[in-house]
Amino acid sequence: MLKFPAPFPTAIFVCTHQRPDGHPKPCCANRGGRELRDELKGMVREAGLDGRIRVFQSGCLGGCEQGPMAVRYPDGELMMGVKQEDLAEILATAKGA
Ligand code: FES
Repeated sequence: MLKFPAPFPTAIFVCTHQRPDGHPKPCCANRGGRELRDELKGMVREAGLDGRIRVFQSGCLGGCEQGPMAVRYPDGELMMGVKQEDLAEILATAKGA
């Protein structure tokens, strides 16, 4: 195994997990997780921060009932019920992280 420091200091994982139709548990994909991930990724790119902040899609983060969920590293802040209007704050916080 090779180990080396990540080339970006902040990573934000947005849950885009999709469950099959009729599944009893909700999923972030059906609550706009993919759109949130895409928009946040675009905001990072437009701000010229893609070398500092990376936005990834993730599988289930374990808080499906409160989704869409996201988590930021390295501080590990978990965000629940993320809405489009929260993205500017998420980006501003990540810039300062
Ligand atoms: S499906 Fe997103 S937290 Fe479980």
